[in-house]
Amino acid sequence: MTAVGIIGAGTMGAGIAQVAVTGGWDAVLLDVDAEIVANARASIGKRLDRMVEKGRLDDAGRDAAMARLRPVTDAADLAGCDLVLEAIVEDLDVKAKVLRGVLAHLADDAIIATNTSSLSVTKLGDAIDVPHRTVGMHFFNPAPLLKLVEVIAGERTDPAVVDRVASIAEAWGKTVARAADVPGFIVNHVARPYYLEAFRILEDGYASASEIDDAMKRLGGFRMGPLELTDLIGQDVNTATTRSVWEQLDRPPLLHPSALQEQLVADGHLGRKTGRGVYDHGADGTVEALVVERHDPPSDPALVAAVEAFVTEATAERGDGRAHYVFARILVALIAQAAHAERRGVATSADIDTALKYGTNYPNGPFEWSRRIGTDACDALLAQLNSNVSDDRFK
Ligand SMILES: NC(=O)c1ccc[n+]([C@@H]2O[C@H](COP(=O)([O-])OP(=O)(O)OC[C@H]3O[C@@H](n4cnc5c(N)ncnc54)[C@H](O)[C@@H]3O)[C@@H](O)[C@H]2O)c1
Repeated sequence: MTAVGIIGAGTMGAGIAQVAVTGGWDAVLLDVDAEIVANARASIGKRLDRMVEKGRLDDAGRDAAMARLRPVTDAADLAGCDLVLEAIVEDLDVKAKVLRGVLAHLADDAIIATNTSSLSVTKLGDAIDVPHRTVGMHFFNPAPLLKLVEVIAGERTDPAVVDRVASIAEAWGKTVARAADVPGFIVNHVARPYYLEAFRILEDGYASASEIDDAMKRLGGFRMGPLELTDLIGQDVNTATTRSVWEQLDRPPLLHPSALQEQLVADGHLGRKTGRGVYDHGADGTVEALVVERHDPPSDPALVAAVEAFVTEATAERGDGRAHYVFARILVALIAQAAHAERRGVATSADIDTALKYGTNYPNGPFEWSRRIGTDACDALLAQLNSNVSDDRFK
């Protein structure tokens, strides 16, 4: 089994095709017109050239990888592919219609994988009448760079198909986390409090945007602070994912969308792509664009003691009381969400840690952190934070 058919030569399809051909597989890349597939081929060629320049690939390797890539516009050309992965528009009816058209050309045991971020693998498998061989294979953007692939079993997916897809992703150099078919799978679900608690602290006025981002980077070792990251992702994309996951999970208060973030979207301040979001990304550099009335974080002695105990165990770095409060509140919210997810059977604690380290570049997984900090210190902090909020979200 060494030929993959990829439907959709957009951002994700082209990236995944590159991963497959550099991983030694043949890739048949299908899109609706010849210009799109030609452009995708050219962009893959440029990225491989850059790898050659950087010494990460030799000329022969690049030529061999490009020779394994076949751009096509006719679904009949997918015949002979053992695995077909779709990466087209995020719409269940469209995906099902396109896949139904492709199935007629494939062998009866060909695996159908979807790169969906938010749709149900189970529903897609049922819609195309081959639920036992339909599976989620969720790459992250940019696919050639981010190591994680979430492999998602639908309710009726054959376990052998799940194993097979996991081993293919590993053969392509990826790190796999297995997830249940739940909204947001692992990363897009468990990571939400990282952004949301940051927006809520900003709404509370307990810290400025740059103080929040700096606290997470300096104390936590995160590569990017939560707010600058939402500007990069796009406020519209980030808040749409939050709202969709929150609705589908029956509206847990910890994942409640942020009014401040949704207002940014309503005002058209979508982040870097519009030049302004939480920050103003002007020619003079990046400055804070969202300024709210400033307050001191709660000074209740029991809360301060719980924050300090948590921070002492979590990191050797030190900051001021405000930074400690920000870091502790965001990190414990992330740990709590990870624990909820594990308890609900979304994934094992090891797979949740893997997913967040390789899908979002977090320095540690939430369970690694909670083991280091200790459950008592986490629980004590959650109890103190909960007594300071009206929505019970830290319960
Ligand atoms: N962009 C991301 O960050 C990201 C990350 C993970 C998963 N995803 C998921 O991957 C999928 C694709 O996203 P994208 O960002 O690459 O989209 P995109 O818009 O960049 O590309 C989609 C491509 O599919 C093609 N297409 C549409 N209908 C087709 C058809 N009938 N046959 C063949 N090709 C067809 C389009 O022409 C387009 O080139 C979506 O399900 C998305 O949710 C996206």
